[in-house]
Amino acid sequence: MSGADRYRLLASTIMPRPIAWVVTRALDGCVNAAPYSFFNMFGSDDPVIALGILARPGSPKDTAANIRATGEFVVNLVPFDLVETMNATCVDAPPEVDELAHADLATLPSVAIAPPRIAASPVAFECKLTHLLDTGPGQLLVVGQILHAHYAQHVLTGDPQRPRVDHAALDLVGRMHGPSAYTRTRDLFDLDRPLWHAPQISSTTAS
Ligand SMILES: Cc1cc2nc3c(=O)[nH]c(=O)nc-3n(C[C@H](O)[C@H](O)[C@H](O)COP(=O)(O)O)c2cc1C
Repeated sequence: MSGADRYRLLASTIMPRPIAWVVTRALDGCVNAAPYSFFNMFGSDDPVIALGILARPGSPKDTAANIRATGEFVVNLVPFDLVETMNATCVDAPPEVDELAHADLATLPSVAIAPPRIAASPVAFECKLTHLLDTGPGQLLVVGQILHAHYAQHVLTGDPQRPRVDHAALDLVGRMHGPSAYTRTRDLFDLDRPLWHAPQISSTTAS
C-alpha cells in the first residue's frame, strides 16, 4: 500500500480521536498553534501524554521543530464552539506566521513553560518533553509530562477539593474519518465493569 492509502485506512478506523490543540514557541519567540489528533494520555502518575506528528515533505512541521528545539508545549482541548477556530490554525503557514494571531485567538501566559495557552480553551496542559521517538522518516512520537493543568471553573463540578469534570459543559469534539469529519461527545451510555465474585469459603470449627 502507499503511505497515503495506509494513512486513510488507519485514520478512518482508529477513531474517534481526541484533539490536542498544541501551542509551541520557536527559539526566536514566534508562537505556533496547530491541531493534532494522534493524541492521548498514557499515565497519570506521572501524568503522561503523547502526540504523533507526521512527516512533512521538505521540512518538519513547526510543532515538531519547536518541541525538538525547546522541549516545551501546551496542549489545549477543543470544545464544539472552538472547532472552526481550531481548523483555521491548521493552515499550512510558514514558520514565521503566528497561527494564533491569524485565527484572532487570545492567549494567556503559562505558569511553568514559555509557550502560552489559548485563553478560550477550557482545559490546557503545560507539558515538558520527556521522550522524542523517531517512528519513521520524519515521523515523531512526542511524549510529555504535564507540569501544570488549567481547568475553567465552568467545566468543573462537585467538591472543590476533589473536583469532577462536567462533560456536558466541556462539550469536546473528536476527529473521525477523512479530512473533515468530527464527532461530539454527547452520545453517552453507561456500562458497569464486571466484578469477579470469589466463592465464599465457609470454615467450620471443630467442637
Ligand atoms: C483536527 C486535526 C487533527 C490533526 N492531527 C494531526 C496529527 O495527529 N498529526 C499530524 O502530523 N498532523 C495533524 N493534523 C495536521 C496539522 O495540524 C497540519 O499539518 C498543520 O499545518 C501543522 O502545523 P505546524 O506546522 O504549525 O505544526 C491535523 C489537522 C487537523 C485539522
